[in-house]
Amino acid sequence: MVVSPREVATVSMMENGADERVCGGATFRVWCNILLHRGQKRGQTGPRQRKTEQMAAQVSPVKQGKTGVSRAARLSVAPMMDWTDRHCRYLHRLLSSRALLYTEMVTAPALVRGGATHLLSFNAEEHPVALQLGGSDPAELAEAARMGAAAGYDEINLNVGCPSDRVQSGTFGAVLMKDPGLVAECCAAMIEASPVEVTVKCRIGVDDQDPEVVLPEFIARVSAAGVQRFAIHARKAWLQGLSPKQNRDVPPLDYNLALRMKGLFPALHLSVNGGIGSLDEAEAFLEQGFDGVMIGRVAYHSPTEILAQADRRIFGTGEDSDPVQVALAMMPYAERHIASGGKLAQVTRHMLGLFTGRPGARNWRRVLSEQAHRPGAGPELIEEALSSILDAQAA
Ligand SMILES: Cc1cc2nc3c(=O)[nH]c(=O)nc-3n(C[C@H](O)[C@H](O)[C@H](O)COP(=O)(O)O)c2cc1C
Repeated sequence: MVVSPREVATVSMMENGADERVCGGATFRVWCNILLHRGQKRGQTGPRQRKTEQMAAQVSPVKQGKTGVSRAARLSVAPMMDWTDRHCRYLHRLLSSRALLYTEMVTAPALVRGGATHLLSFNAEEHPVALQLGGSDPAELAEAARMGAAAGYDEINLNVGCPSDRVQSGTFGAVLMKDPGLVAECCAAMIEASPVEVTVKCRIGVDDQDPEVVLPEFIARVSAAGVQRFAIHARKAWLQGLSPKQNRDVPPLDYNLALRMKGLFPALHLSVNGGIGSLDEAEAFLEQGFDGVMIGRVAYHSPTEILAQADRRIFGTGEDSDPVQVALAMMPYAERHIASGGKLAQVTRHMLGLFTGRPGARNWRRVLSEQAHRPGAGPELIEEALSSILDAQAA
């Protein structure tokens, strides 16, 4: 048996302090019992649910959901493995001082058991910046969240959306859509351990799940554990038969379902993710009622398109940034990185799309991609590549 969207909505409204009459006269206890009862039927143990509820009762509303970070989440750049590393985030921060930036996923076992604390390093300029964790062991995730908060991250996000094989075998990511009770338990443990907000990035369902049923139930269970902010990648993940890349394109997008979650859970902060290609589209989603928009691939490939006007248009403050100035500002950054033993290409590979669609862009890309790997390549290569842009602008 599953909880219907209508039931879930009622529980959510009551959890969020709605008047009992609005909720049809049922008491909060009755509705909690329905969820508890159904949770047990789906294989969740009573003690687990009780522990989750006890932890949720101690959640501070200031910590969870009412922070400056949630305002930044009006526009965010999605977590992307191998892409949104600290050099990429530094570049994005130069383009927008406001948008929320996510790390690549870092697994809790790597941090807690593997001691890979170097994965937590970031530039002070990156704030507001959120650490995304992968895992499914509540104690391990709690420890990883504590480490992330101690490292200075502004938010800890749990990945419930990534479908890759490696991630499935570790029971992380999208496969957790099948066990909202475990996700709730993980989040409750993370919230207790972390002084900064804990959020969740999820799909609308996996495999043969019915998203209409699964998504509201998932959000109800996880928000009951204290999570008040979700980013919803508005398509299913198919865990068998599709590659991670196909899973970002093949399953159809259902923005309307994601938007209906806003109607069911009006007090939660919900961001929509998936297939959003411009700042115009982002504005349209915000006008429809979403609290935030999360953009992945287009923000990476065309960062200027998404971020250069974001402060003014999405946050209503600040000036547009100039990609030429941003490129110049990356030179001292690259110089510092090289001086500390790094390579120019590690920085410039994220800059290839800075002038996408503008005159001179092709030469810009060519110079950086062909020459940044060469031994001894230094930050002056950025200036050299920039000449094709400046020449095209002058022509
Ligand atoms: C190269 C790449 C790596 C990704 N890695 C992650 C990840 O580590 N964690 C995660 O939650 N999603 C990951 N994603 C998914 C994105 O965060 C996002 O949900 C997806 O790309 C859909 O948004 P978009 O259409 O705006 O790109 C990745 C996507 C790409 C393209």
